[in-house]
Amino acid sequence: MIWYPYTQMKHLKDLPKMVSGRGVRMNLENGRSLIDGISSWWAVIHGYSHPALNTALKEQIDKFAHVMLGGLSHQPAIDLAEALVRITPSGLNHVFFSDSGSVGVEVALKMAIQYWSNKGYTEKSKFLSLKNGYHGDTFKAMEVSDDSDFSRSFSGVLHRGFMLEIPKGGFEAGPETVQLAVQQLEKTLSEKHHEIAGIILEPIVQCAGGFHIYSPHYLKAVRELSKKYQVLLIFDEVATGFGRTGKLFAAEYADVTPDIMVIGKALTAGYLGHAATLATTDVYDSFLGDDYNKALMHGPTFMANPLACAVALRSIQLIEEENYLEKIQEINRIIKEQFRTLNSPLIVDKRVIGALGAIEVTDPSVLSGFKEFALSQGVWLRPIGNIIYLMPPYIIDELELVALIDVIRNWLK
Ligand SMILES: Cc1ncc(COP(=O)(O)O)c(C=O)c1O
Repeated sequence: MIWYPYTQMKHLKDLPKMVSGRGVRMNLENGRSLIDGISSWWAVIHGYSHPALNTALKEQIDKFAHVMLGGLSHQPAIDLAEALVRITPSGLNHVFFSDSGSVGVEVALKMAIQYWSNKGYTEKSKFLSLKNGYHGDTFKAMEVSDDSDFSRSFSGVLHRGFMLEIPKGGFEAGPETVQLAVQQLEKTLSEKHHEIAGIILEPIVQCAGGFHIYSPHYLKAVRELSKKYQVLLIFDEVATGFGRTGKLFAAEYADVTPDIMVIGKALTAGYLGHAATLATTDVYDSFLGDDYNKALMHGPTFMANPLACAVALRSIQLIEEENYLEKIQEINRIIKEQFRTLNSPLIVDKRVIGALGAIEVTDPSVLSGFKEFALSQGVWLRPIGNIIYLMPPYIIDELELVALIDVIRNWLK
């Protein structure tokens, strides 16, 4: 029997069973179909069963499905690494593959600690992160994430570092508005930098921790201060990457390059679990030397799986060939337009960026039963706490998007 994620199994009811998918539609065993409003945990950006992606996989599987990367190499991995270096912020020249976002984050944290220990600074081993941040479910990823339902049972054994508030004022906040948060950051860094290996954050939008959006001015300030106080800057773009915020990577809003960046989820367009941790040449160079112990000691069995690499490469081509950033702008326009007329005393805030819309309501109890209601209306939406959010596949059309939002509208009535 399956043990389902984030589920009190005692209360598990019959789950809808998907039998096929096409475009934004998930077809169920009972003959009904659902519009996917959240891209299967934000990954399925081209929708289901995309012909070009299916073909890329079929072509690769006829060559070979898998080979270890320890001691061997292969063209799909080489090509994907090249493509990732090309499309990510300039300076991230080295790509370490792994098999999930959480593991990609673990690799980033290990890289940061070992960067400093390879240089002789063994005391620099803690992390600074942001309140409401979420970086995955493995142990070190939980330590840099804020306390939440996802990690609460383990809070007694987690060794957390330093955690700061994001600035208020949302995306539009100017340099003065973010100043208080910047000062708090500088205070912590000036006092503790000798203990801190890195700062890890989700740039511009914190997703699972509540869809909070903050200003690029803060990101710029974090970059400057992390250089000034000699701590590495790690961007977790597992959720924000590949266009979700309206730029290919959210880092572009502040025009900054982190020292390390993690991507996952939409990397393979939801076809296979995969992630990558990219690093600058400065980070990479600190692992070079005659001493084997200076090398990066990590190697997931399925890193750079050729099927994952082949489908990721084709997905990147699709994003570029079909000008997805324009599609995302159009999704943004429709969500904003629809949200303008979506009003209820139960709504506390509406937040929109790129192809992401979030509605915060007064209390999680307002959304109790919402998922079932959405299902009955032919829509797949799954609130987190007191937030209903939309992160649809980028191929969604206007009618489908309006249908999704109408379900929210009708529920809040
Ligand atoms: C920002 C962020 N980082 C890391 C992760 C973990 O990724 P995975 O679920 O692939 O381990 C997630 C998952 O939601 C995420 O949103």
